[in-house]
Amino acid sequence: MAYSQAQTAAWLARLKAAGIDEASFDLRHILLAAINAEMADSMVTRRVNREPLSHILGDKPFWTLDLKVTPDVLTPRADTETLVEVVLKQIDDWQAALRLADFGTGSGAILLALVSELPNSHGIGIDLSESALAIARENAVRNQLSDRVQFQTGDWAAGLADQSVDIAVSNPPYIASAVLAALDPEVKDHEPHLALDGGADGLNAYRLLMPQLFRILVPGGLMAVEIGHDQAGAVSELARSAGFADARTARDLAGNDRTVWARKREK
Ligand SMILES: C[S@@+](CC[C@H](N)C(=O)[O-])C[C@H]1O[C@@H](n2cnc3c(N)ncnc32)[C@H](O)[C@@H]1O
Repeated sequence: MAYSQAQTAAWLARLKAAGIDEASFDLRHILLAAINAEMADSMVTRRVNREPLSHILGDKPFWTLDLKVTPDVLTPRADTETLVEVVLKQIDDWQAALRLADFGTGSGAILLALVSELPNSHGIGIDLSESALAIARENAVRNQLSDRVQFQTGDWAAGLADQSVDIAVSNPPYIASAVLAALDPEVKDHEPHLALDGGADGLNAYRLLMPQLFRILVPGGLMAVEIGHDQAGAVSELARSAGFADARTARDLAGNDRTVWARKREK
């Protein structure tokens, strides 16, 4: 669809006036998705009202996948690809029949990315939110991975047996409750509270998760969790207390600490 220069300039000006950081990027994607000027105009209005671009477009690329995104799930972030990379770097045998588990799977982003790279792996994605799991299941079908993943309601790893998993991953909610109100409107007004709120110091989920991850991993199994940029020390300490002797940190592309990972020792 071709739009007049004047119309395009007017949309760009509205987005900029609304304080949208990447106004040109967003407008380009809106214009690619819209089928006529009326639709484009209404999408621009939604963005001016600070709805996330991913909700307006209905999807978001993550890793090599195209994921459906709605207000029921956290929009997958590019930073989370750090965790996927960390895990894949640790794999010796990519053909192995690995068992994966992703806690707080949301859209299914992490689990689906890992399973897409490991052709004989199987995975389970757990979330407290049934509406998030419905989106994760759709994403598995959309990316032709539904024969190797299942999604189940659960409270972190409570429903999984001891030593039943080779790789356990999570991107839990990690924002301190008091900070939530200061987040951008796209996040605080449009993303699920359950996906964001990490309690008073942002670490509640890690306190619960670390001993559970240790319990469900086989000896030699791999654990990786996403963290907030200032949480490496605290989360590594929680990992050590749970039994992961050599917790390490990996950085994202911006140079921020983003993932804590460790292997469960063989003995
Ligand atoms: C930060 S989001 C991560 C979503 C997705 N894994 C990603 O990386 O884009 C955290 C997820 O944890 C889920 N969650 C919160 N508390 C939970 C709990 N007690 N047990 C399982 N999942 C939980 C939320 O519903 C949300 O989907």
